[in-house]
Amino acid sequence: MNGERGSWGSRLGFILAASGSAIGLGNIVFFSANAYKYGGGAFYVPYLIALFVVGMPIMVLEFGLGRYTRRAFPEAMAQVGGTRAEIAGWFGIFNATIITIYYITILGWVFGCLIGSLGPLWKPAQLEAFNLPAGALSNAMVFFFNMISRIDTVFWVIIVWIFNLIIVLKGTRSIEKAVKLFVPLMWLMMIVLIVRGLTLENGIQGIFLLFTPDFSIMRDAEVWKGAFSQMFFTLSLGFGIMTTYASYLPDDADDINNASTVSFMNCGFEFIAGLAFFSLLFTFSIIPKASTLSMMFFVVPEGIAHFPFGVMIFGCIFFLLLLFAGLTSSVSLVEAIISSLIDKFNWSRFRTTLLVGFLGVWGSIAFALPQVVDPGLDSNGTLGLSLLDLFDHWAFGYGLLIAGLLECIFLGWLFDLDTLRAFINKTSWFKLGRWFNILVRYVIPIIILSILAASVLEEYQLKLYGSTMNNTLCPKLYLIVFLIWLVICILIPITISHCRRPRHRDNQIETSL
Ligand code: ALA
Repeated sequence: MNGERGSWGSRLGFILAASGSAIGLGNIVFFSANAYKYGGGAFYVPYLIALFVVGMPIMVLEFGLGRYTRRAFPEAMAQVGGTRAEIAGWFGIFNATIITIYYITILGWVFGCLIGSLGPLWKPAQLEAFNLPAGALSNAMVFFFNMISRIDTVFWVIIVWIFNLIIVLKGTRSIEKAVKLFVPLMWLMMIVLIVRGLTLENGIQGIFLLFTPDFSIMRDAEVWKGAFSQMFFTLSLGFGIMTTYASYLPDDADDINNASTVSFMNCGFEFIAGLAFFSLLFTFSIIPKASTLSMMFFVVPEGIAHFPFGVMIFGCIFFLLLLFAGLTSSVSLVEAIISSLIDKFNWSRFRTTLLVGFLGVWGSIAFALPQVVDPGLDSNGTLGLSLLDLFDHWAFGYGLLIAGLLECIFLGWLFDLDTLRAFINKTSWFKLGRWFNILVRYVIPIIILSILAASVLEEYQLKLYGSTMNNTLCPKLYLIVFLIWLVICILIPITISHCRRPRHRDNQIETSL
């Protein structure tokens, strides 16, 4: 059965694939945006606590579960906790599916900007939808809004889906080939950008800004919430990815070593991205006080546009970096979905890939089209960018944390955690002590529950998300999207979990022990 499911050709292949999954769009611009917003160097405190207390232990758990059961996430959960755990597993996969769909839409926009960075992105233009004269906004901003309001944006999205499907078509074999090319290139391009940033006049001073701590922010609950939920996203946890990837590992893999290597590569990348962008933004006095999307499409390109030479080359490098980093993450998301369906229904990989691709393309187009239909972006009767924002609000803001919480509950309380710990310890150099049980059973669930409670409270205090926005559509759309999210992540998982189980599931645990 393992041969049919596929296996990594080497440990290097697995590490590149898992770190490629972790290092994505979030890493490149998130850290700079948040470190600035949340008090520079002081942000490291909640960030590092989130990494060591929640991120790495959950990654060890996800790797251990995958290797122990040799199944993708929902089936793996089913093997250790029965149908209820399987529902939790499908919750994670369907929540990840929503994220995959809009993640690929964003990658389509990155692709459009990559083409634009060969020329038009750097030139002044009129903002068509608003009739704003050239020069009123930065060139990158104008280019972006013009691009997403044209129908070509749909083609960029389709192209990115095709890239993804080609890479996952042969499973681990094709994924391994792709990550061996993309991940080293990604590091190389990041190094080029950091050298460029630091060699700018005053570039080093930008870094001092990144390191100057403002500890007063640590009293702010939002900072802690931001650090913990982002840790799930950046390490690709709660998506079912790491369990799926680990299910292709050999019997003697060292889960703790693998989890540490992947986590440090991910956070190291995020850190050097912060150095590169802080230096360039400081040099050109650009305030990186922005959301991840605007950092990616407006702020960093605006910095690059100020370079004394090589604007086009460095711009291409930046968007290629985003594209490669995003692709190695989206591929892992698509693979987690495909592998879950194959394990559950015993379908062929080719058929499953086509099905997921066909449905996924329509989903991503649905996120791209509102801007084409309503380029004014004012959400006055049409959707604008709100649709993406609202799905992100539920799937990223809540879904990942809930998936992590469910993992801890099922593995920590309803399954004999000592058995899994002994399994992980058997092939690991560093041994997990009883403290690991305390983390999984108490500490992590309490942290996640507190964050979720704080979020719900905030939701309530703000009445409805978007009600503060200057439009009438958001509160209604907020509830509609919430209901769609519930149906996709709860009703469909319950239905699938009660579908007939394929015969191959028998006693896999014994064979893997
Ligand atoms: N871990 C991936 C990212 O940070 C999903 O973009």
